[in-house]
Amino acid sequence: MKTAIILAAGEGTRMKSKKPKVMHGLLNKPMIQYVLGAAKDAGVDERVVVVGRNREQIESVVEEEISLVTQEIGDGIPYGTGYAVRLAVEHLESSDTILVLTGDTPLIRSETLRELVAFHEKGEYSATVLSATIDDVTGYGRIVRSATGEFLRIVEEKDADEEEKKIHEFNSGIFAFDGGDLKNALEELTTDNKQGEMYLTQVIEILRGENKKVAAFCIDDETEVYGINSKDQLSEAEEILRMRVNRRYMQAGVVMENPRTIFIEDGVKIGRDTEIQANVRIVGETVIGEDCIIGSGSVIDSSVLGDRVVVRSSVIEFSTVGNDTDIGPFSHLRPKASLGSHVHIGNFVEVKNAILDDGVKAGHLAYIGDADVGKDVNISCGVIFCNYDGVKKYRSTIEEGAFLGSNANIISPIVVGKEAYLAAGSTVAKDIEAGALAVERSELRQFMGWTEKKKKRDVKKQAETEEKHDQGRD
Ligand code: UD1
Ligand code: MG
Repeated sequence: MKTAIILAAGEGTRMKSKKPKVMHGLLNKPMIQYVLGAAKDAGVDERVVVVGRNREQIESVVEEEISLVTQEIGDGIPYGTGYAVRLAVEHLESSDTILVLTGDTPLIRSETLRELVAFHEKGEYSATVLSATIDDVTGYGRIVRSATGEFLRIVEEKDADEEEKKIHEFNSGIFAFDGGDLKNALEELTTDNKQGEMYLTQVIEILRGENKKVAAFCIDDETEVYGINSKDQLSEAEEILRMRVNRRYMQAGVVMENPRTIFIEDGVKIGRDTEIQANVRIVGETVIGEDCIIGSGSVIDSSVLGDRVVVRSSVIEFSTVGNDTDIGPFSHLRPKASLGSHVHIGNFVEVKNAILDDGVKAGHLAYIGDADVGKDVNISCGVIFCNYDGVKKYRSTIEEGAFLGSNANIISPIVVGKEAYLAAGSTVAKDIEAGALAVERSELRQFMGWTEKKKKRDVKKQAETEEKHDQGRD
């Protein structure tokens, strides 16, 4: 039986936030979920999370099978990682191996946890701490070894002397324990340290004092055990994760320009040879086909794009886009925009809850909301679908091959028939017959020689004004 205890009750005061530390997101997912996922994938049989005042919030994001143990936080009540583990262990029936993880170390990989457990069990240790070395070790507990390299104890930075502070090997906060030995050692914890807390790290000294075997399992990739205590560390951890995720996409055949600036949530699927340019954000259940170009600054949320789609600096949300379609720059597909193949959406076009069949063109400055637009329809510059009367939304149909001239207003609901032409500037609230030309404009009036007359009037007015001005001065 293997159990993982995940510590998450701490107040996270260094985050300076109303939100519990472990609820802060990395690539839009709360950090506690990464830790829980890694523990699960490492093959533990049960997961117990120690929560504090943040119980409700944590409960809302964890799976049902996970047990929560509440740690009361307040004056006079013991505090510290050791005390938190003790509460969790009391709750356990029995466990051969107990893995302890902290909710604020989300970059740990399940493979590493498996290696830790294998090392721990093979060596028959009572306790094995996962450690790493790092240049800037500020804030971490240090791994103290003897001159011969034997692991002696862990000293917290606040309790460390000058020599100990120079140690670069640090405690990741992740441990594997023999269940029985841990239970006994936890009974011996004291609060005899600078912070007056029950440190889990003291277990190492206690076990050594009982002549039990302890080990520090030092890993090469220190980024995996990056602990997050502040918001700048949160952003650094996210950058590490972002690169880890992006590298996976690149290894699977996606081209990325300046991947450090590209934000892609883990569940997104992207086809081979698709190129993602700088400063792109792709989130939600998005699927992108092959050979697409997702241009700088684009945001794609929960949408499905076919192959060879080109998106330039545009926002696409909850929409679908067919093969060989291009969008942007600066266009917006709002929820339920469904574009066929070879559709052209140019600049400053907004599409919402509309189906655009294959070959539709809307090159510039248009609003297409609540509409069914047939094949090869041309939507010229400035066309607006007036779909809302302040109370209700209405839907219009534009049939195959129709041509909507510039600045036309479609007052929904109407039907524009097949291959009909709607003249530029027309505002129409009635259906238009197939094959017709519809013009809705007032008659043009021209006043011959008007400009010449105006000029003369203006000269006269100017002279009168100057005369008045002179008189005023006398
Ligand atoms: C801890 C370790 C330190 C290690 C570092 C790695 C101790 C004493 N120190 O320090 O050696 O280098 O992690 O990141 O163990 N928590 C509780 N209940 C408590 C106190 C803490 O659940 O009473 C939880 C916190 O929510 C957090 C985790 O335990 O997820 C670690 O606590 P934190 O205060 O961040 O410890 P560090 O100072 O980082
Ligand atoms: Mg910490």
